[in-house]
Parts: sequence; C-alpha cells; structure tokens
Amino acid sequence: MEPQLKTVIDKVVAEFAISDEFLRKATDKFIASMDHGLASGPSKEHMPMIPTYVTDIPNGKEEGLFLAGDLGGTNFRVCSINLKGDHTFDLKQSKYKIPLDLMKNSTSDELFSYLAAKVEAFLEEHHKDYKDNDHLKLGFTFSFPVYQTSLNRGTLIRWTKGFDLPDLVDKDVVELFQKHIELKKIKVNVVALANDTVGTLLSRAYSNNPDVTKSNTIVGAIFGTGTNGAYFETFDRIPKLDSSKFKGKGMVINTEWGSFDNNLTILPNTKYDEIVDKETANVGYHLFEKRVSGMFLGEILRVTLIELFKEDHIFVDLYKKRGGSLPHRLSEPWQIDGEVLSYIQIDDSTDLKMSELVLQNHLRLPTTKQERLVIQALTRAISHRAAYLSAVPLAAITKRVAPQYENDDKDFEFGLDGSVIEFYPGFQQAVMEAIKIIDPLKGSPKQIHLKIAKDGSGVGAALCASTAK
Ligand code: GLC
Repeated sequence: MEPQLKTVIDKVVAEFAISDEFLRKATDKFIASMDHGLASGPSKEHMPMIPTYVTDIPNGKEEGLFLAGDLGGTNFRVCSINLKGDHTFDLKQSKYKIPLDLMKNSTSDELFSYLAAKVEAFLEEHHKDYKDNDHLKLGFTFSFPVYQTSLNRGTLIRWTKGFDLPDLVDKDVVELFQKHIELKKIKVNVVALANDTVGTLLSRAYSNNPDVTKSNTIVGAIFGTGTNGAYFETFDRIPKLDSSKFKGKGMVINTEWGSFDNNLTILPNTKYDEIVDKETANVGYHLFEKRVSGMFLGEILRVTLIELFKEDHIFVDLYKKRGGSLPHRLSEPWQIDGEVLSYIQIDDSTDLKMSELVLQNHLRLPTTKQERLVIQALTRAISHRAAYLSAVPLAAITKRVAPQYENDDKDFEFGLDGSVIEFYPGFQQAVMEAIKIIDPLKGSPKQIHLKIAKDGSGVGAALCASTAK
C-alpha cells in the first residue's frame, strides 16, 4: 500500500482493535449486566434476560412427532421432527423466503397469514394424512425479543434485524399465529414459543450424550443475521421471577445479549458504528449485535469505505470516470452481504485477483490493487473485532454457570448456529483465541468446546412442544 494511504488505514484498523484488558473488563461488565436484567424489569441499559418457562434441559430420551415453525431472519422454516428417544431424530423441512414487503410496510396479519399458509403447504407436501389424525403440536421459534409469560404466551418487545411491523409490538405472537392457523382450518396447535437460542440449547443438549462427549452443553447461541444466547440459570439468581410457582432448580434464560451495553459504557464505538446505528429501525438498541452479527458486518465495511471515499482516499478515479457517482451497491445501505467479506478475508491470490472478481460480481465494483488492499485490511479488522466481542458473552456465561457444575468433572460445550460462526473463515478460531485470553475457568482442568448445532432451533422448538401439556 502507498505509505500515505497506509498511515490512514492503519489508524482506522486500530479503531477496531480489541485489547486483552478490554476482553476481561467486558466479561465482568457482562456478568453484572446479567444480574441487573435478572433482577429488574425492562430497561434500555441492561439485557432483557427473559425467562422462557423452559425448566428442564433435554436428556435425549424425549419422543414423538412434532412440528416447528421458525421465523427469525430471511426465511420461514417449517419442519416436522420425529424424536426417537435415543439422542437422534428424523427431520423433514421446507424453507420459504419471506417476501421483503412482508417484513416492513405491511401488517402483522399479512405476515402471519403467510406463515400459516406455509404450514399448510408443508403439511400437504410431507404429511398428507394429517387431516385424518389428531391436532399436531407445533413449537414456534420466533427469534425476536419477546416477553414470555408462559411456555406458549409472549408479547413482542421490539423488532430487530430489519423487520418493522409496528402493529405487532406488545401483542401476543402465539395468539396471532394460532388465529391464522384456525382461519385456514389447519389441524395444528401452537403449544410452545421459543427463541432460536433456546431451541439451539435444547437441541444440542438432546443430541449431546455427555457420557460419550464428556461435556455438558451450557449455552445455545446464534451468530448469524443477529446474535444472542440462552443458558440455564438457577432460581436463586432470578429475583424477578416468583420461583415458588415452578418445580426444578431453575429456568432457561434468553439473554437477548444483542442489547448488551446499549448505553455504550464499554463497547467500542467508532464513527462508522454510529452511522450504521442511525440507519436501523431500532436506533440505540441491540448495539452489541450491531458490532457482531452478519447483518451488520457488510454494512460497517460499506460505511467505512464511503467515509474514506469522502475523504478522497479511495474510489476517486472511479467516481470521476462514472461522471460523478459510485456503484449503487456501494452507495446504498445494506447492499453488502457478509458472504462477500468471507471471500475477501482469505484471499491470498496475487494482487488480490480473487477479491477483484468478487467485488466486480457481487457489487459491480471495479477496484485498483490499492483499493483491494484497503478493503481486505478493513474486512479483517471488522471481522476480528466481531469475533473477539463474540467471546465476551460466551466467557461470561461460562464463568457464571461454573458453580452449577462444581461436582462434575465434565468439560463445557456451547451449541452454536448461524452463518457467521458456521461459515466465516477463521471466526471460530478467533472466538476461541479470545476465550483463552479471558480464561473464564482459571485454574480448572475443564475445557471449552464449540459445537455447531446445525438447524438446532427447529429441533429445539419441537423439544419445547414435547414438554407442553
Ligand atoms: C436478534 C433477536 C434475538 C435472536 C437473535 C438471533 O438478536 O433479537 O431474539 O435470538 O437475533 O437470531
């Protein structure tokens, strides 16, 4: 890179750096924020820490046929899951893309009518005889912040991840889904409501046989379009819940860690992060998610590139050549998919020729070698920050639940799902590296393992449904 440009880029890259000291401090701050969220009602400052009414973690012996409907990103997934009672299951599934005009500028009735139609289409395709049988039980994975009041009741707190249908806020999402299922006369009862992270935790716990893996599953987490995690908390540490009403030792908590440190007391905050936040429908909320998850990585890169362009560091000739414009996928928000970054991340071809092709094909963006070097340096800085930040909640929860397993010598594992953790090159390694720096189990021989729990949320919703009366 030309020395002058390099000085500028080095400075920007440094803004995305995460120090070891930050990792340790942020982990303690995360634990404190968990306590606040478990003690008090909703506030912007602390994570919601939502009780899920799931009081048992599966042991792999659960049985039966259940349906799951999964809404949380760009697709609605319908599955039927036959739990075989031996840590295994059979799964049939179909994915339906959510039309963009049902995600915003529409009504919740239109969205849920679409979801019910897809449940019907799925049953027609995979379970033709369903009309002759009893009602099937469906677990609904709805991966947005919801205040749950029982296993199958919950109202939407706010939309995240680009959805925006204001009329659903404060309404019961199960009631609405059931209404549209009944309007279509489909023989299905929605008996459980689950976040995708809760589903991931339960499904990994179902598949995991601790006698074989020598590990207990302690967290279910998503690093995909959004990010969030769930874990099992003991009742004595959930002051906001009247635990006398429940059997057992505790309950699964949906942390909604996307909202960790919305007040920005510790999270890194660059001017690029501020610009991205202003472009979203939930300004000021889910600020941790906006630095970590797949929906935002491409946008942070795009905004950073545009700022460098405005300062005359890159794309100056391109702009002139085009008569005063930049390609629209660079000039308009949300046009760079995280997938594009994953190719650039690992490009080691001469002159970054592979990136040249990717940028041309995906963004219609012609680049010089200098520009590609800039793009790669920024991509790596942004994704490295995301991975290091991702380690914070995982390490914090590990530290927090360790006492629950005092008399158990098994290792700990996390059940993880989502495009970023599964596919982004080097992400898992970077997360592990940061966890090692934090060292949440200092002095203990226990190890920590990352496990991909692919499509866990559907199976998990079925497991929730299996516990419903
Ligand atoms: C967002 C949602 C959360 C979900 C996560 C992952 O953070 O608010 O409920 O679990 O995305 O899909």
